[in-house]
Amino acid sequence: MSIRSLIKAGAATVLCAFSLTVFCAPIEIKFSHVVAENTPKGQMAIRFKELVEKRFPGRVSVQVFPNAQLFGDNKELEALILGDIQLVAPSLSKFQKYTDKLQVFDLPFLFQDMEAVDRFQQSPAGQELLNSMEKKGLVGLGYLHNGMKQLSANSPIRLPEDAEGKKFRIMSSDVLAAQFDAVDAIPVKKPFSEVFTLLQTKAIDGQENTWSNIYSKKFFEIQPYITESNHGVLDYLVVTSAEFWHGLPDDLRPGIKKALNESIAYGNEIAALKGEEDKKAIIASGQSQVLSMTAEQRQQWVEKMRPVWKKFDGEIGRDLISAAKAANR
Ligand code: SIN
Repeated sequence: MSIRSLIKAGAATVLCAFSLTVFCAPIEIKFSHVVAENTPKGQMAIRFKELVEKRFPGRVSVQVFPNAQLFGDNKELEALILGDIQLVAPSLSKFQKYTDKLQVFDLPFLFQDMEAVDRFQQSPAGQELLNSMEKKGLVGLGYLHNGMKQLSANSPIRLPEDAEGKKFRIMSSDVLAAQFDAVDAIPVKKPFSEVFTLLQTKAIDGQENTWSNIYSKKFFEIQPYITESNHGVLDYLVVTSAEFWHGLPDDLRPGIKKALNESIAYGNEIAALKGEEDKKAIIASGQSQVLSMTAEQRQQWVEKMRPVWKKFDGEIGRDLISAAKAANR
């Protein structure tokens, strides 16, 4: 336990022990995230706050900080480990510093749809990944869906050669960098909070993201083309620090986990709805043209990007890749 946590815990104990009215300072959970509130993660976080505060009045308080208000995605995991926040749900592409295994989710054209992603996440191999960072002080509490990624750009992208020489913003994953290298594009790792400005100032040409992020962050207003590529998945891992989680009173931990599971289920429902709704809203806006790919065009991308699997099979593990692949039907 860090000195800071010890002081906090000590102060709370003294307060509880000496107060005649048995007043105890509530346990504070700060949940920080980088997306808007009208997204699967934004809604899941709000639901978690509501459930926990209703079930544990005065014992647990939850504060939600959306839109990278508190920490951007470069800093949120460090802040979690330091105890400045207690809950985050970064995209699975943002854990490379802590484990290579989660990069399995970034392999291009691995999952045929979100049902396959879900099957893999709930499989023994997927569940084992939740504990893959305990030694680094991180506890995975559950997966949360967002959806499949689409490609947005300032010129129409249908074939791999259309992406050649173009700069695409990516999350901090070497697999995603290799994916764009494979089509001779230029991957640029940048935090989510900077994407709108980078696109607006044309410092980059495009980016990959889900319908809900493209809609809620208004990327569609400044990117004239979106290719419905479904080339990869953008999901989340809800994580806390081992220190916080194991330090919770035993009578609270199961209830907090139950509230979290319920809010994840709710977030997943929102994800399924928003994928469709936000795509329709983008099309209806007329500000961005949504392009589809023919089966032949898609196959060209698959072939160009397939070497990325081989490149990372040592780090990720062949068995894990096979288990993920087996989730397709
Ligand atoms: C998020 O959905 O949390 C952000 C995704 C991104 O960085 O593109």
